[in-house]
Amino acid sequence: MTHSLMSSDLSVQAIRRALTTERLGHTIHFLEHTSSTNAEALALAQEGAADGTVVLADHQTAGRGRLGRIWHSPPGNNLYCSILLSPRSSAGPQDNALTWIPLSTGVAVARTLRRASGLAVTLKWPNDILVNEKKIGGVLCERTGSLQNSDSLIVVGIGLNVNLPSEAFPEEIRPAATSLAAEAGRTFDRSALLAALLLELERCWLQLFSAGPGEATAAYTEFCSTIGHRVRVTVAGDTTVEGRAMQIGPDGSLVIMPDASDTTSGATTPLTVRAGDVIHLRNTSRP
Ligand code: BTN
Repeated sequence: MTHSLMSSDLSVQAIRRALTTERLGHTIHFLEHTSSTNAEALALAQEGAADGTVVLADHQTAGRGRLGRIWHSPPGNNLYCSILLSPRSSAGPQDNALTWIPLSTGVAVARTLRRASGLAVTLKWPNDILVNEKKIGGVLCERTGSLQNSDSLIVVGIGLNVNLPSEAFPEEIRPAATSLAAEAGRTFDRSALLAALLLELERCWLQLFSAGPGEATAAYTEFCSTIGHRVRVTVAGDTTVEGRAMQIGPDGSLVIMPDASDTTSGATTPLTVRAGDVIHLRNTSRP
């Protein structure tokens, strides 16, 4: 399952040379093609793979996005990786730490990309990675078993459009998607970028599990361009609510003040959204 043959700037050897983590990425399964690194990582977790194991692919044929969407995953330019995370292995998980894993992951990704590129990378709730309001990356967390199952492992899947030229995006997603290279005007070494990302993820998760979500909340709020924005949120099924995003709740939820004129919801008190899709509407001023 582990292959050493890799394309150009992406290789296990190069990642190892750049890697300075304590734990993350000490086992890397590289696949030139796979359906989905999340699917591979979930299978590895069932077989007893260790916390911190990374599954990396150059190409996914059925990349999974949030809300059942497809993640466009062509070969040769991007990063598709999934990391096995065992909350058990961290000393004393704090209240709400688990629900913060996806958001804290978003912070680590945004911070790494900002450092590497100097671009104003932001987060759209819950964890879309944006540059100039276009998506350059996303995070999909899945788990083996239920939350109540103490043996359950979390698979943190991260997809990043690194060197893909704008014209290589399918026409239907081109207006809303971009890559680091398209925005920065230069290409990036994927191995070095992944090594830097793994180090930042390790720091963020360690902090989250040892001290709770305090720091993640502050960092997330700084990166999150949704807060203060007028938004349209699709909550359950096809119910939509428009209003202003006010803040992030203690469990990582998004708190919205619905528009007084919003007749679809009829709500006039703050609404807490725990899952769903957010669209940024015009008017970007903070409350
Ligand atoms: C989103 O919809 O924003 C989340 C996209 C997550 C994509 C990544 S690519 C690596 C990992 N494997 C998958 O099948 N999906 C995630």
